[in-house]
Amino acid sequence: MPGAFLHPFTKPVRSEFVSIVRGQGATLWDTNGREYIDAMGSLWYCAVGHGRTRIADAVHAQMTQIAAYSCFDPFTNPVADALTERLVGLTRIPDARVFLCTSGSEAVDTAIKLARLSHVMAGHPERTVVISRNRGYHGTNMGGTSAQGIAPNRDGYGPLVPDIIQAPHDDIEAMSVMMAEHSSRLAAVIAEPVQGAGGVFPPPEGYLADLRRLCDQHGALLIFDEVITGFGRLGQWSAAEHYQVTPDLTTFAKAVTSGYQPLGGVFLGRKVTDALESDPNFLLRHGYTYSGHAAACAAAMVNLDIIEEEDLFTEARRVGARLGAGLQALAADGLIDHARGEVAVWAAAMRPDQNAMHIRDTMLEMGVISRAIATEALTFCPPLVTTDAQVDRIIDVVATAISQNEKVSHG
Ligand SMILES: Cc1ncc(COP(=O)(O)O)c(C=O)c1O
Repeated sequence: MPGAFLHPFTKPVRSEFVSIVRGQGATLWDTNGREYIDAMGSLWYCAVGHGRTRIADAVHAQMTQIAAYSCFDPFTNPVADALTERLVGLTRIPDARVFLCTSGSEAVDTAIKLARLSHVMAGHPERTVVISRNRGYHGTNMGGTSAQGIAPNRDGYGPLVPDIIQAPHDDIEAMSVMMAEHSSRLAAVIAEPVQGAGGVFPPPEGYLADLRRLCDQHGALLIFDEVITGFGRLGQWSAAEHYQVTPDLTTFAKAVTSGYQPLGGVFLGRKVTDALESDPNFLLRHGYTYSGHAAACAAAMVNLDIIEEEDLFTEARRVGARLGAGLQALAADGLIDHARGEVAVWAAAMRPDQNAMHIRDTMLEMGVISRAIATEALTFCPPLVTTDAQVDRIIDVVATAISQNEKVSHG
């Protein structure tokens, strides 16, 4: 019998779960005392590793002052002010401002709404069309669901948000045709610089720069969804920095706190903020109860300190290089079809005769947590503090799990 908790992205009939109770670095323990290596950084977010009492202490200290207080007009709090001042120094977008929320899905909906709103305020209410890409994942709120490039994630929810359409991924010609078709009605293009939950697909050479050029040509805003790629995963604060392409808006969440508190947000460039600031009597009717949540902002501040002090950009390159080389060696041995990834986020693409879900289950029994993207790929997004020995163990377990599954299916 399933329990009271209806789990996210899980069959509602499932009744057995791995119940995680503790973590330290890249190591986790479940209620039975079993140990695991967290090769997914939980759900792509735990950059600084688990068990950071420093972050817990900062959250505790903030909560004993005030846990949270509304940031709706006329209120603010010092830690939300300090965090946003600090964040604008970390984005490639010049003179940016930051909107705060609590999740990637809220960040995506915010980016879509504010992109459309800025066109309205700039005198172009007809610019409502948003193009996303196939294979893209932009969360599960209505805006993000409408922008989903993973078709099954859109099914069953009735009519979605109008004027959000999908272009083929990584095909700049197809994107160019679609943009030309909607040119004068385009509000924005939203893209993950490296598609994550769709299976870890880095962009083709020059693709993001071409996307920037097309957006400029058609008067569309470019939104980078950096919910996975932000805050160290690519050895930089952002994929924008890594690929040297500047968007107009950037969504973030996940590694901004490494999950110690739920926090997300959107960086907004001048094209958006100039429009929003153009009428001094305009009131922004968008916001969340927890926009600027003080305890969440306190967690982010210490998380950013740790990323800087422990030089986790360098660590991302170390972890990613070892993981990538290990997976590529498996591909060279024919154990997987191929490996793909960028810096510290990777996928092992399965051969057609393999089933990633079965391999994931075997790996779990062996104490390594990966994520299966349907039957096609295993993904890896380990904490940036994962040790070399742990990375080696991850690769060993992938190889062993694959061999065991082959024995089962062939013999
Ligand atoms: C690129 C991207 N955008 C948006 C989201 C949604 O974030 P959340 O689950 O925090 O709502 C995710 C979550 O994985 C993501 O990977």
